[in-house]
Amino acid sequence: MRRKLFAANWKMNLTPTEGRALIAGIRAILDPLAARLARDRDVMVAPAFPVLAAAAQALAGSSIALGAQNMHFEEKGAFTGEVSGAMLRSFGVSYVIVGHSERRHIFGESDELVGKRAAGVAAARLAPILCVGETADERDRGDTLGVVLRQLQAGLAGIADDGAKRVVIAYEPVWAIGTGRNATPEQATIVHGAIRDALRDRFGAATANELPILYGGSVTPDNVDSLMAKPDIDGALVGGASLKADSFARIVSSGMA
Ligand code: 13P
Repeated sequence: MRRKLFAANWKMNLTPTEGRALIAGIRAILDPLAARLARDRDVMVAPAFPVLAAAAQALAGSSIALGAQNMHFEEKGAFTGEVSGAMLRSFGVSYVIVGHSERRHIFGESDELVGKRAAGVAAARLAPILCVGETADERDRGDTLGVVLRQLQAGLAGIADDGAKRVVIAYEPVWAIGTGRNATPEQATIVHGAIRDALRDRFGAATANELPILYGGSVTPDNVDSLMAKPDIDGALVGGASLKADSFARIVSSGMA
């Protein structure tokens, strides 16, 4: 059975002190459920780089994984403002978000650059969470699947076979991020199904069937259950609602047996 992943993307929020407090709040709710959560789902929080050390300390002894929000693909060198896989691993990071729409649209990251980052993450034996998603204009033009599948293909281009099993995809429609307007379960299902088909073409059915495809974009405790009820929606990448312990914990517990 495919495992779910519930991931918090804190974006550029929370100082180390605030991050520690939030993790303590999340753990107070989720630690007692750890054995039940472990049956079918993983949980991750991705703080900003300067908060990784405090977050790692606060997560000690828990099964909640640590993630980062970006990573460079070279091992080291003259890349001001970037961080390497080895640096992230030294904090206990196991997942790295790449190609978030804010990286693509605010910072101009191209499909090709995102593909290099994803390949670098996998080569560093970390799990890339590759984000894909269309803008409102692209959806209105009927180009949703064209955009998503183009981003997916470019994003996975450099992933070697031994990295494939660690890949996570996050479908995050740009128009749904931070807007309070989530994709409906039906809209998301169409895209997730197309992503699954493309993953089968790329990696073969056996591997593709195990890879989590997350939905992201205005996920809340109120809409998470209807999204997770769909067969190809395998968890969530959560922004705003991950900044409060009770709402994130409620999302993580969605549909729990
Ligand atoms: P919101 O949950 O705030 O819409 O953000 C989604 C997101 O971008 C997660 O990466």
